[in-house]
Amino acid sequence: MLELGDLGLDEGAHLLIKRALARDGAVTVTGTAPSLAIDLPAWCRARGHRIAPAPAGFAITAGPDRWRHAERAGGDAPVARPPARWGLAARGALVEAGAPELDLPLAVWADDAARLYAQAAAAQWDPATAIPWGAAIDHPAEIEDAVVQIMTYLIENETAALLVPVRFLGRLHPQFREVMQLLAVQAADEARHIEVFTRRARLRRAELGLSTASGQASLASLFDEHEFAVAALLLAVLGEGSFLSLLWFVHDHAPDPCTREVARLAAQDEARHVAFGLSHLAHQLAAEPALRGRLAAAIQRRHAALAHTAGLNEEVFDALLLLAAGGWDPAALRRGHAAVVALSRDMDDGRRLRLSRLGFSADDAARLSSLHTRNFM
Ligand SMILES: [Fe+2]
Ligand SMILES: [Fe+2]
Repeated sequence: MLELGDLGLDEGAHLLIKRALARDGAVTVTGTAPSLAIDLPAWCRARGHRIAPAPAGFAITAGPDRWRHAERAGGDAPVARPPARWGLAARGALVEAGAPELDLPLAVWADDAARLYAQAAAAQWDPATAIPWGAAIDHPAEIEDAVVQIMTYLIENETAALLVPVRFLGRLHPQFREVMQLLAVQAADEARHIEVFTRRARLRRAELGLSTASGQASLASLFDEHEFAVAALLLAVLGEGSFLSLLWFVHDHAPDPCTREVARLAAQDEARHVAFGLSHLAHQLAAEPALRGRLAAAIQRRHAALAHTAGLNEEVFDALLLLAAGGWDPAALRRGHAAVVALSRDMDDGRRLRLSRLGFSADDAARLSSLHTRNFM
């Protein structure tokens, strides 16, 4: 027996009925709310419960349990191949049968994903306050031109680094929640990098620098990769890995505090992007050692596709040299040139180290690193 008094079904009485049915499977309901005789049969019909008149009220018997065919969408750890019928359900939720299927076929995991996401969320910085935008810029105009050219080049590379992973993110199964969150914050990182490099370029100049066809050809080839692991190797491990060296180079040779700081903050974020790429590939290679062959083939394929292009544009190379030289004195230019040569060596060392951490032999790592795009990304 359930006595509702004058509590209407539209005032919360349905909770009492649901609770009684869940406990006992049947209940006799009485009440004085004026619309109860209309609301209650409609409510029962909509839920598949049987209802019949009873002395002074209604006898309700619970209908078939709608959660009978429900299933748990994984648990603490993600399921390797989650079905489309789990749709957008939270990992670990009880999913009612018949929910719409969503085409989110991509499975991407990294054992470090949760840790890297927490780190990324904690490390977000505000472009408005983190950069000394008002700091003095007192270097010669030609050095400023070099800074603007480098920033222009960085912006287009950052744009690829934002758009390439986001295309995968849009197809990622929500079961891989931590990877989804990490890629979302990573996209926000790249958005900030684009903002601060653009603002830095425009501090003293109305126009940006040059964008070359060969630089764009290199970045465009990243959009051709349809396997996440391959894209992660080319973009995150090799590309963003090389960019780590580049950003620290810009930091070390920056002619003003603002340039120094945008490079430093971007480099800190990039280190996480590289770490995620490595962590994902390590996970994937452990499950499927044959992937290593596909990764090597992808580097070779991209090298062949870009062989006819010029690689790094001369303007960027010269701008880096001038940045490191700091002026036109021949001795300074020689130092600048040596610094750019050391930068390419540093990038190559980094790529070989990361490839060997993924299980490539020293010879393979050296060969594959040398095939990496001359555009750096
Ligand atoms: Fe970036
Ligand atoms: Fe990045």
